[in-house]
Amino acid sequence: MPELIPQPRYARFPPDAGTCELTAPLLDAGPGALGTARWLRRELGAATGWALPAPVPGDSGGGRTVIRLELRPETARTAGAESYELHVTPGLVLLRGADRPGLFYAAQTLRQLLGPDAYRRAPLPGAVWRLPYGEVADGPRFGWRGMMLDVARHFTPKDGVLRHIDLLAAHKLNVLHLHLTDDQGWRVQIRRYPKLTEVGAWRARSRWGHRASPLWNETPHGGFYTQDDIREIVAYAAERHVRVVPEIDVPGHSQAAIAAYPELGNTDVVDTAALEVWDDWGINENVLAPTEAVLRFYEGVFEELLELFPAEVSPFVHIGGDECPKAQWRASAVAQERIAELGVDGEDGLQSWFVRHFDGWLAERGRRLIGWDEILEGGLAPGAAVSSWRGYAGGVAAAEAGHDVVMCPEQQVYLDHRQAGGGDEPMPIGYVRTLEDVYRFEPVPPKLSEEAAAHVLGAQANAWTEVMENRGRVDYQVFPRLVAFAEVVWSKLPAPEERDYADFEARMTEHYRRLDVLGVDYRPPGGPLPWQRRPGVLGRPIEGAPPNV
Ligand code: ACM
Repeated sequence: MPELIPQPRYARFPPDAGTCELTAPLLDAGPGALGTARWLRRELGAATGWALPAPVPGDSGGGRTVIRLELRPETARTAGAESYELHVTPGLVLLRGADRPGLFYAAQTLRQLLGPDAYRRAPLPGAVWRLPYGEVADGPRFGWRGMMLDVARHFTPKDGVLRHIDLLAAHKLNVLHLHLTDDQGWRVQIRRYPKLTEVGAWRARSRWGHRASPLWNETPHGGFYTQDDIREIVAYAAERHVRVVPEIDVPGHSQAAIAAYPELGNTDVVDTAALEVWDDWGINENVLAPTEAVLRFYEGVFEELLELFPAEVSPFVHIGGDECPKAQWRASAVAQERIAELGVDGEDGLQSWFVRHFDGWLAERGRRLIGWDEILEGGLAPGAAVSSWRGYAGGVAAAEAGHDVVMCPEQQVYLDHRQAGGGDEPMPIGYVRTLEDVYRFEPVPPKLSEEAAAHVLGAQANAWTEVMENRGRVDYQVFPRLVAFAEVVWSKLPAPEERDYADFEARMTEHYRRLDVLGVDYRPPGGPLPWQRRPGVLGRPIEGAPPNV
């Protein structure tokens, strides 16, 4: 039985049915299948050396096996969106998708069936390619199967983002939420405000470890995506059926923007002209001023952003909304006047006014706002969707009020949190959340009514990068846990306590070989390798938690 991950709904590969050997197969792409055909030629072509030519009408093909790609939209009604079938029979490998994503996932499954070497970029000498006879019928549990990558705290250069998109697609994940701005860096070029990247994309140094650590990395850090880089990322992702959701975090987490344009800050309370891009971690008091001028400025930012992220790719635009301290607004005469003028309920009401403004502004442009669950405070903006990160409660409240929700509770699926207890984990922070814990994560809380549960679009795992200074560190925190997460959001698993973790672990044996070939610096089951440790750099385990937390 092939070790497929995520586990398909149905798979049958009778051991006595045997296998077929593929040598120079043909690729027959039906209408609507060109995208998957291109991907197969590029990826499988590189790994195997196959040219994958189309069959010539009237030519029998000399007995070569045909890989046929078909779209069967009529099956979407019964099997669901993004579903597919795969049949391996003598002379024919048939991939059928209910839609284009479904067909693409059939191709991803085909690649897994061919073995770990199918993930290489050049063929090994003498490689033999075998497929087991049998069939798969498969489709996802959720439509939002995501991961958030924080490219603000530590920048992931464009090539790393493209690689990450390939890794998401290989696990049948379909949303990449890019956290593009924060106190420590602004990562997207905005033509009308060049200083956002000229000034805001660079910091002089970085805290080395958690903020409790006394150490500093004195190497300046930075980087940003040009608008063409973003267009390339979005198009590359779309070809792999990954939607990119951009986040511009307002009104908190904004010191990099204020360092670039001091007038964005609360100038009657702090000397914002003296602020630099932040070099430390934590929750920052320097938040945006609640003025019309600031709204206009950010409308300008979002106008450019909407061009870069077309609605067909993702109707959702993330506006952050998390962790906005109110001390400056309490002290600011300008902010207090605003509260009186608008008649809103104090500083929380002001935050709500800020978020609602962009909710309406985005809706007028055919878009939907999504924000962290703090946007529920002071009144939820109509039509807004919520990323529920402070546990399930925000998501439950939002879903019961009829708002769409993406579940990403920090206690379960924050991948920056350490994945084992003990002193070897690099810069260990947060809760211990093992591979098994993530495998037992359930996106829909059991008490939710059926009607409210329908508002759970899905889930995402979040990777904040304060203590991940490069690609290897991100890989280590993200893998293998993202693999367990992918199975949770794709497969129809039983209730958490009934999940067959031993079976998942057994399938991981083959999957680690795939990750090895892909060059993923995952955490090995036995713990970090010597070069994956960061001896002497302080993290911050959650205090007062039981030993395994
Ligand atoms: C968050 O973790 N501040 C969304």
